[in-house]
Order: sequence, then structure tokens, then C-alpha cells
Amino acid sequence: MRISVIGCGYLGAVHAATLASMGHVVVGIDTDSHKVSQLARGFAPFFEPGLEELLAEGGATGRLDFATSMDLVRDCDVHFLCVGTPQSKTSELADLTYLEAATRSLAEHAKAGSVVVGKSTVPVGTVRRVRAWLGEAEVELAWNPEFLRQGTAVKDSLVPDRLVYGVDDGDAAAPAVLRALDEVYAPLLHAGVPRLVCNFATAELIKSAANAYLATKLSYINAMSELCDAAGADVTQLAAAMGLDPRIGQRYLAAGLGFGGGCLPKDIRSFRAQARELGVDSVDGWMGLVDSINVGQRTRVAAVAAELCGGSVVGRRLAVLGAAFKPDTDDIRDSPALDVALRLAEAGAHVVVTDPKAINNACMRYPQLQFEATLAAACEGAELVLLLTEWAEYRELSPDDIAELVAQPVMVDARNVLDREVWREAGWTVRGLGTGLQVPEAAASL
Ligand SMILES: NC(=O)c1ccc[n+]([C@@H]2O[C@H](COP(=O)([O-])OP(=O)(O)OC[C@H]3O[C@@H](n4cnc5c(N)ncnc54)[C@H](O)[C@@H]3O)[C@@H](O)[C@H]2O)c1
Repeated sequence: MRISVIGCGYLGAVHAATLASMGHVVVGIDTDSHKVSQLARGFAPFFEPGLEELLAEGGATGRLDFATSMDLVRDCDVHFLCVGTPQSKTSELADLTYLEAATRSLAEHAKAGSVVVGKSTVPVGTVRRVRAWLGEAEVELAWNPEFLRQGTAVKDSLVPDRLVYGVDDGDAAAPAVLRALDEVYAPLLHAGVPRLVCNFATAELIKSAANAYLATKLSYINAMSELCDAAGADVTQLAAAMGLDPRIGQRYLAAGLGFGGGCLPKDIRSFRAQARELGVDSVDGWMGLVDSINVGQRTRVAAVAAELCGGSVVGRRLAVLGAAFKPDTDDIRDSPALDVALRLAEAGAHVVVTDPKAINNACMRYPQLQFEATLAAACEGAELVLLLTEWAEYRELSPDDIAELVAQPVMVDARNVLDREVWREAGWTVRGLGTGLQVPEAAASL
């Protein structure tokens, strides 16, 4: 099939490359000419394991191309809308202006009978608006929410947990739309990936509801970590024991600095706004609590740092390990690590940040922080080290790796990933979150 992918960011670039690897002829369209020129030359504009290999394969087979001009979508049978839907700058609502611009532009170029498939995460009711933006274009519409996770996006796209097709079940064209989607995803369906067909509202809500559940689980265990600190209990043992119950499971049950990134935070806020509009106060209040527990973890980590510095971080040299919002990505959108680093810098600390992949993105955005390319340079002379993003190389850190570099052997393990006993035996003071030590009230105001 000939397919276009409109919007080639973290979602669209991976989707385009994956579709080409399945044998389709794909053109990726993006308004960012720099991104397009990198992608067209086979370079990923961001770090995503496995993406450059897929881009190279797509380029070599001639099945994958990228462009800024919508003209190239004219021959395509299916068009995927993958543009950003960030949080509005003035409210919790999703900003749909990119989606509107992309849809209106696509409407002018899509051939009659082609199928427009939305993949961006959108509030319930958006499909109706997309239909209106398509105007007189003689195209069919479907919504196919995406569940890939940055860091494992290629694998998630090649072997997804499920495919969700949202279609207009009252529309006579629905069977043709389903056939088109089945043809797009034929290799996945043959491999046994479950396929769920539902109406538009359900498809729109599935993605938001799934993200809200994951965020709830994370904030739940983070609330437990606060309780553990107050009670003298250990949240890592608590979570390990809870997670052995198959009804609960271990995943998304790690207490720590909490979630960030370009999706979960804005999606739960958009979900709140949707619930308010629909008059469902319980979901609004619930998501508000999940959000505030999550953001509160950043305050807790800054407070622990201040406490370990004797009550104030003014003039202290602090090493921050991690700038990306999570490991295996260079994405710094709403990064908890950078948020804590900024809070500490604003409180008067000299903060030095390092990260295996995200330094370039972060140093352009935050000139008030010092960045170092290596762990050793960041730790040199540090009076406190904060592990804020759990990259494998930080998880596997041994006390000997940095003992000679730091000025004081003091560590905040904000992801609870280090073996605290090993570090303590090596002479370090180590603090995690929910490991049985209360944050003093005076420091909690940071
Ligand atoms: N990043 C993820 O892990 C992920 C996972 C599932 C769903 N999503 C959803 O996918 C959507 C995209 O997310 P992302 O992380 O890829 O965002 P992103 O910001 O990385 O990419 C969006 C891209 O759209 C392009 N764009 C904007 N307006 C355009 C237009 N009119 N025409 C063509 N291109 C245009 C931008 O230049 C950018 O490259 C969002 O709705 C997000 O919630 C993202």
C-alpha cells in the first residue's frame, strides 16, 4: 500500500519506518524541514533504539521517504495523522491547533476514497472536529490510537500489545475502512496481535484511560512511599511483595521521582478537562490527585537534597545524574530530573547535570545549569550526587566508580535503584524515597 504519515516526531517517525519495514511504500510529512532532511538522510532526529537501522533499511529499499510538502500524499491510500497534541499553554486542555492545520492541509491533497487514520492522542469528541476540518474531501475516517513507549518504540510498533480501530459504526463505509486497516497491519494480524474494533468515542477514550491507569499506579506507590517514610517502612520491599500478587503485578509499581515526558502528564490533564466537560467529577478529582502526588515527588527530592546538605543547598556543588524524562530516550519534555535540577539551582546550588543522550537537548534549553558529557566530570568535587533518571549505567554504578571524584560520599537515589547496603558499607550516606526516613518539614518548603 502507499501510505503517508503526517507528523514525524517520536510517534510518526517510528510509525513511518515500521510501516516501510512491513513492505508498504511510505512518505513521512513534517513541517520541520531540519527534521525532514535528517530523516531523509537516514538519521534519527532523536535517540530511539533501533530507529536508525529501520530508517537505513527503508532508504535502501526505496520504500521510505520524507518531505515537507503535502503534494507527495496525493497517491496514498491511507494517511496517518501523527502530529503533536501538547497541553495548551493557557489551560489543561489539549492544544489541537497542529491537528487542525495538518488535517485541513491533508484535505486539500488526499485522493477520493483514501482513508484518514488518526493516531495522535486526542480528547473524546475530537474525531467529530476532524471530520469537520476535512470539509468536502471525499475520504473515510478512522481512529487508531498508539500505545508505543519511547525507549522501546520500535519494538512496541513491530510487536504491539493490541491494535485498536475506532470507526463510525453507523457508516456504510466502515467495512472498507476496516479492510484498509487490516491491509496496513496484515503482518501484525498474521502474527496474532489482538485487534479491537470500537466506535470513535471508545477509541479516543481507550488511550486516555490506559495512561490514566498507569499514572494512577505510579502515583499510588509514590503515595505509599510517603507513608513508608512516615512509618519507618521500606517501599521497595512493600512494592516487591505487593507486585507478586498477579492481580497487581510489578510493573509501574516502582516508587521514586515520578513520571514526566511529552505524554503522561499532558494526557492526564487533558483527561481531567474532558471529565469536567462531561460532568464526571470523580475522574476530574482523581486525576487531580494523581497529578499532584506526582509533582509532589519533585518537591520531596529537592527537600531530601537540602536536608542532606545540612538544611540549605546555597553554594553547594551538586551532581545530577540524568536529564531525560526516562532512560533510553533523549526527550526532556517535562523531565522530572531537570525540574529538580532547576529547583535546586534556583535555591542557590551549583548544579552540574550529566546524561548519556539528552545533554544537547537540555543545555540549549537550560543555560542556567552546567552540563557535563561524562559522569566523572559531573561528579568531580560534588558534595551530593542525585540519581534522577535510571539509565542502566547509573543503575549499575558502583561506589568505587565515583568515590575518588566526589567531595562528600552522599547520594540521593531518587529512583530507588541502587543497592543501599553496598553503598553504605562503602561509606556512603544514601537516601531513597520511601525507605523509612522522614523529610523534615523545614526542608519540605523547597
Ligand atoms: N511520544 C510517544 O511516546 C507517544 C506515544 C503514543 C502517542 N503519542 C501521541 O502522538 C502524538 C505525537 O506525539 P510525539 O511525541 O510524536 O510529538 P512530537 O512533538 O515529537 O512530534 C510531532 C510532530 O508533528 C509535526 N507537525 C506539527 N504540525 C504539523 C503539520 N501541520 N504538518 C505536519 N507535521 C506537523 C512537528 O513538527 C513534529 O515533528 C501526540 O498526540 C502524542 O500524545 C505519543
